[in-house]
Amino acid sequence: MGEALKFPDGFYWGTATASHQVEGGCRNNQWWAWEQEGGNIKDGTTSGIACDHYNRFDEDFALQRELGHNSHRFSIEWSRIEPEEGRWDGKEVDHYKRVLESLHKHGLTPFVTLHHFTNPIWFEDQGGWTSPKAPDLLERFAGHMAKELGDAVPFWLTINEPPVLPAASYIAGVHPPAKRDFRLAMKAAKNILLSLGRMHNAIRANAPHKPIIGPVINMTYVMPASDSDDDKEAAQSFDQYWNGYWLDGIRDGIIGPPAGDGESVDGLKGAWDIIGLNYYSRSVIAKAGGVMGLRQIPPPMDSERSTMGWEVYPEGFYQNMLRLKQYGKPVYITENGIGTDDDGQRCSYVVRHLREVHRAIQNGVDVRSYLHWSSTDNFEWAEGYRQKFGLIATEGDDLKRVPKPSAYVFKEMAEANAVTEGLAEQYLE
Ligand code: BGC
Repeated sequence: MGEALKFPDGFYWGTATASHQVEGGCRNNQWWAWEQEGGNIKDGTTSGIACDHYNRFDEDFALQRELGHNSHRFSIEWSRIEPEEGRWDGKEVDHYKRVLESLHKHGLTPFVTLHHFTNPIWFEDQGGWTSPKAPDLLERFAGHMAKELGDAVPFWLTINEPPVLPAASYIAGVHPPAKRDFRLAMKAAKNILLSLGRMHNAIRANAPHKPIIGPVINMTYVMPASDSDDDKEAAQSFDQYWNGYWLDGIRDGIIGPPAGDGESVDGLKGAWDIIGLNYYSRSVIAKAGGVMGLRQIPPPMDSERSTMGWEVYPEGFYQNMLRLKQYGKPVYITENGIGTDDDGQRCSYVVRHLREVHRAIQNGVDVRSYLHWSSTDNFEWAEGYRQKFGLIATEGDDLKRVPKPSAYVFKEMAEANAVTEGLAEQYLE
């Protein structure tokens, strides 16, 4: 018999989304522009009207509530709020006020992300994250939103996945502006870390109440490909870029390697109340030529993988949560999920990953939420719509919302505040 795995009272169960991936019509950002060039999105799709969530948010939140959720993470589209530098669009601010009202009405606690991959075109034209103006502009945007949305927002998440931004846009060249220039990547990494501190402080100074604020770090679990000193060293520098640079940077208020030499920055030290953690997979690293002198070894063909090609590796999730204990901040799982056409695999994935969350809590990590990526299938960036991450499908021309079996597995757990005995028996050895 499986045994029920109980979560602490008040645990948050919900899903996460990002404006560009679900709203539709985000015409003023760099992703939209890049999609129109053609050839940049693997499956040839463009975001278009996405899930039309911009118009259907109330219906979506009602369904999420019916499916047992008590919280929801979404992002504000900066390019709607500030379509031209320094011009605020009050109508779009009102839109997000309605979104927040709807969440509260349906009993879903809002987690609001301020930056989730998209930049207004005017900001991208100035060099985006590589521009020395970036921290000032992000600080101003964060302050504006904190003032405007006020106490409707209990949780602010400043920047989604800081390490992905330079890596995807300026190292791998798979997100716009699709460059491969390590120097630019390091400029961006520095400005993003500075912005994390500045945004935190701007929210704190402008919100009329005392919201809870934090970054969203997507930790990958890094392992060396072998026991050789070379591979271990390569794994360590990858880990430093991906994990340590951000976490230690905020804890200590420094810009460490690879973007700095450990110089202190005013206002950065301790600029977090919580740590948002996204987790998808592990990274096995070997020494090689080229950028940073390393390469990522693809997962073995016989390992369990997603349609993204990512290895399913729940143990790494546990190890990452355990590592976060040293920072002494509550941990909120802000994303975890799988791209797959096999919803049975998703059911098993979500139960197995929640077992790791439970194990981490048992071992003293203060984890307070599990927000699954994602509610509906949506626009998966450079991969397009071909990748399915949702608990809910969007079917036909009218994008009819159809919950998948995994949505009911999730409901069972959310309502019981536990991995139930039945699910443990079915999915856990
Ligand atoms: C991002 C999401 C993305 C998901 C799956 C995360 O890196 O925050 O926007 O859809 O992973 O790739």
